[in-house]
Amino acid sequence: MSTVLKKPPLYDASAFVGMRKAGKLAAQVLHYITPFVTEGTSTDELNTLCHDFIVDHGAVPAPLHYRGFPKSVCTSINQVVCHGIPGPKRLKKGDILNIDVTVIVDGWHGDTSTMFAIGPIAPQHQKLMDITKQALDMAIALVRPGCFLGDIGHAIQSLVEPKGYSVVRDFCGHGIGRVFHDDALEVLHYGKPGTGLCLQQGHFFTIEPMINMGRPEVRILKDGWTAETRDGKRSAQYEHTVGVTATGCEIFTRLED
Ligand code: MF3
Ligand code: CO
Ligand code: CO
Repeated sequence: MSTVLKKPPLYDASAFVGMRKAGKLAAQVLHYITPFVTEGTSTDELNTLCHDFIVDHGAVPAPLHYRGFPKSVCTSINQVVCHGIPGPKRLKKGDILNIDVTVIVDGWHGDTSTMFAIGPIAPQHQKLMDITKQALDMAIALVRPGCFLGDIGHAIQSLVEPKGYSVVRDFCGHGIGRVFHDDALEVLHYGKPGTGLCLQQGHFFTIEPMINMGRPEVRILKDGWTAETRDGKRSAQYEHTVGVTATGCEIFTRLED
């Protein structure tokens, strides 16, 4: 509803400069935390390391106290789809973990997440992560002025569903910029080509598909945040923040090698 009533903002060159800085730091957090993501480490320890890195770089972890969220990053293990709350739970061999980082730099938000495999994991779980990453990369490749958001959702859905995976419906990508979640722009990870918003230069948003091995339904745990698959099967997610340019898009949260 909001998508048809409110027009998402079109940002100028100075906003791209701000988002580039925020996106880069968010990506650096994921790079920094990687060697610590090992068997036996608790998600709370990972949260503290990320928090300190963000604050030491003069930035603010956006999730902390956002709508009552108690931690600085989200950590979602195995059947947890998103919004897992870091805690005493320790990583074990065979787990897959998503860490979702959002930082605020000079008022601009950079939002990105990636998957980690702990020790050797089952081939089907590696495949789940691979297809989810492929879905995000393919979606990003479509972004340019004139592309419809429905084209993006459709592409993700048509990649994963024929292979037996499902697309989570309860959460979507979002407009982003000076605010964390701008509901004037909603990026559904399923849809019909040629529908929804037609992208223009200066639109800023995230793409963050959540792909399940089983059914798409989720439930929220009593903590009010943790979203799990109802069937208990595993889920994967990758996320980038992008800005539409004259000819395509800039991925604010991708680190140059
Ligand atoms: N980073 C998540 C997203 O991609 C949102 C987390 S909200 C929080 O939109 F409160 F759980 F942190
Ligand atoms: Co997001
Ligand atoms: Co995120």
